[in-house]
Parts: sequence; structure tokens; C-alpha cells
Amino acid sequence: MSTTLRLATPAPKHDRSLRDLLTTDHARLERLFDELVAAFRSGAAEDAARLFTRFDEGLQAHLAFEEQRILPLFAETAPEEAAALRCEHDAIRARLTALCVGVDLHLARADAVEAFVKALRAHARREDTLMYRWVAGRAPELVQSDLRRHWMEIARRFDRR
Ligand SMILES: [Fe+2]
Ligand SMILES: [Fe+2]
Repeated sequence: MSTTLRLATPAPKHDRSLRDLLTTDHARLERLFDELVAAFRSGAAEDAARLFTRFDEGLQAHLAFEEQRILPLFAETAPEEAAALRCEHDAIRARLTALCVGVDLHLARADAVEAFVKALRAHARREDTLMYRWVAGRAPELVQSDLRRHWMEIARRFDRR
């Protein structure tokens, strides 16, 4: 069977698709970030430090998974869109670094915090529309189940905390 035909085969439905798992993780990261900002602003330093570690580790793991496992696949079909999403990852990392220098988020300006959240949300929407839907509709089922299994191994590390 040709690659084109295999890519065109619709993926069977699953209880939790990769798209569902990753959009759930977007929501989890956004909640964690809200809690982190609230902890910094109320002066709860220990909570803030703990939440920062969880958020940072979770975000880096999410971005790394996409970069190592999904973006290379997506780039075979849509190289420009894949490159643009990869650039957004770099911009998100740079914004987070700028925001959290010295883990002094309570000193960060409200508009910079808001801009970071907006950038995260815009990226989440864009990659869901472009890339997650592409995976769900076009990637071979074997690839999708391997990606799901790999992501669930990563996600279990965060569930235990
Ligand atoms: Fe992403
Ligand atoms: Fe994502």
C-alpha cells in the first residue's frame, strides 16, 4: 500500500485519542500556571516554587514530545506549518524564561503574565486545528497508538505528583 493511501485511511475512534490527551494536557498546564501566578502574588513562596517546577517540567515534556514525535511526522505533509509551530515553541520557552528569571514571578508585570497565557492559548488552538486534527485524521493507526502509548507513559509521571 502506498504512503498516500495509508495516510488517507481514517483513524478508528478510541476512548481517548491523542488529540484528546494533549488538549487535556494544555488545560492542565493552563490551570497549573494560574495557580502558580496566584501563589506568587499571595507570597506563598514554597507553593509557588513547587508549582513552578511542576509547570516547567510539564511544559518542557509536552513541547519535547511534540518536537520529537509529532512535528517530524507533520512536517512531511506540511513543512511550513510544522516549522511555524516549532518556532512558537521556542517563543513560548523564551517568554517563560523572561517571565521567571530568578523565579520572581510576583515581580513580573501583569501584562507580561497575560501575554504569556495568551501565547500559550493561541499556540494550543493553532496546533489543535493544524496538527492534532491532522494526526487524528491522517496518521496511520499504528503510529497513533504508538504516540498515545508514549504520551501516556510521560503523562503518568505527572499524575503521580
Ligand atoms: Fe505545541
Ligand atoms: Fe501541545
